[in-house]
Amino acid sequence: MIPFNRPYVTGREFHYVSEAIEAGHLSGNGDFTRRCNGWLERTTGCAASLLTHSCTGALEMAVILSEIGPGDEVIMPSYTFVSTANAVVLRGGVPVFLDIRSDTLNIDETAIEAAITPRTKAIVVVHYAGVGCEMDAIMQIASRHELAVIEDAAQGLGATYRERPLGALGHLGAVSFHETKNVISGEGGALLVNEERHLDRAQVVHDKGTDRARFWRGEVDKYTWRDIGSSFLMSEINAAFLWAQLESAREITAARLRLWKRYHEAFAELELEDCVRRPTVPPHCRHNAHMYYLLVSRPELRDPLLEELDRRGVNSVFHYVPLHSSPAGRRFGRADSNLRVTDTVSSSIIRLPLWVGMGEQTVQRVAAHVYDALRDLGRGQAAGSGRPQTASA
Ligand SMILES: Cc1ncc(COP(=O)(O)O)c(C=O)c1O
Repeated sequence: MIPFNRPYVTGREFHYVSEAIEAGHLSGNGDFTRRCNGWLERTTGCAASLLTHSCTGALEMAVILSEIGPGDEVIMPSYTFVSTANAVVLRGGVPVFLDIRSDTLNIDETAIEAAITPRTKAIVVVHYAGVGCEMDAIMQIASRHELAVIEDAAQGLGATYRERPLGALGHLGAVSFHETKNVISGEGGALLVNEERHLDRAQVVHDKGTDRARFWRGEVDKYTWRDIGSSFLMSEINAAFLWAQLESAREITAARLRLWKRYHEAFAELELEDCVRRPTVPPHCRHNAHMYYLLVSRPELRDPLLEELDRRGVNSVFHYVPLHSSPAGRRFGRADSNLRVTDTVSSSIIRLPLWVGMGEQTVQRVAAHVYDALRDLGRGQAAGSGRPQTASA
């Protein structure tokens, strides 16, 4: 079986975890946390990074810092992971679900302005597959209407929009180090604080609502409860693991990009035959090869294709069930407009295995299986030879 994902380890993780154990500091905010935050600040240009136990936690922090409260509306794509909306609902806010662009599968920025009401407080953008949203237009809309912009950059580390790193373009950004992401710590995330005005409160919210960060810096002689917050910290064990990964982040992205390009070449013919659509990356976006997906032209073939690939030993998956039509999405949020693209994409997407170490030959094998499976499912006269020239079975 070719797995959908296999977490990549650099080989230095054990060494750094041992170092953390020897240092005798295993809770959060130790030396490895400082190294990881420093790396994130240097490479993204954010004002401050705070490691969290998950991107989910970082999104919850971002919503607290944006002062979203009961009844406040937050615009976001329906085509996203539950955490994007959950963070808002936990504060009593109302997610307002918008459609996505049919090319990048990111929020349709042209639909945002019409969805703004007097209750709108923020926009959460999701950089799907590590391809940047149209941030210039979005930031202009936000500034015209005095809205906060939170970037859900769970999939975006190492990618840029007009040369600027994802996660550092809005007011607050959230990244993920979950084992399915490019750079991992098992579970993990970071809040990127891009505006100085959020810095002090972010540290308080991060550490259970206390001013412990000021205490450690010697600015107060005891720490106390100051504000709402939670235990959002990442432990030093995870931070030590993460440090090994961040040291290799560039190489990991480069390796993923090579695999992504092989897929892209292999499926050119299938796209010409109109059987699938390949991902679109606008010229002003540098992506990070977080995922390779195909959009099957005949959605009724999507589920049989997944089954057929499974039968052939290829573990491919689909996502997301759109939030606007999920039980909780209907209960807590509202769909502002027609979500035609979202519905079509969610019923026609397949995501293929992509992990460092799978090798370009395995990519070719997966591609060959997709061609063969589609042929067997009757892609009709256009099936041709059924295989990409480059594929080796
Ligand atoms: C768009 C998006 N947001 C948030 C998350 C949540 O990340 P985490 O698992 O680190 O909480 C994910 C995870 O897959 C995601 O894809």
